[in-house]
Amino acid sequence: MIFALTDDSMISNHHPVNPLFLADFVQGARMSGENSAEKLTYHDLISIDELPTGEKRLLMLAGEEVLLCRVPAGVFALRNRCPHAESPLHEGRLRQNSISCPLHGARFDLVSGRALGGTGYRPLTCFPVKVEGGRVLLGMKG
Ligand code: FES
Repeated sequence: MIFALTDDSMISNHHPVNPLFLADFVQGARMSGENSAEKLTYHDLISIDELPTGEKRLLMLAGEEVLLCRVPAGVFALRNRCPHAESPLHEGRLRQNSISCPLHGARFDLVSGRALGGTGYRPLTCFPVKVEGGRVLLGMKG
């Protein structure tokens, strides 16, 4: 089951995806950079109309917070924790194709996941996402 937290903290219940499968997905996505040849199955999350450009949506997937961000370069999904000191990123500011951390101000490119400005921080943990038929889809193993 997926719970979506909007920017104004309204909670709604979305697509009934098996939580155990999502747990598998979240773990697999963390490792996707190490094993990018692994086949993914994409699962429907929300309508793209629910996520206008310049906005973000926080999803709770089997105990893991995943932040969907729609920017001019597209829709991106990332773990809702800053790689510097684990601060939540959902209150960070989107600017063009980047997000800034509200705690210490590090800025991350959403396309590459890398920190901008030579901060030396580790990159964001990103998840596979695509948009098809007006729906936002997250990739899962298997
Ligand atoms: S916790 Fe995000 S920049 Fe320090």
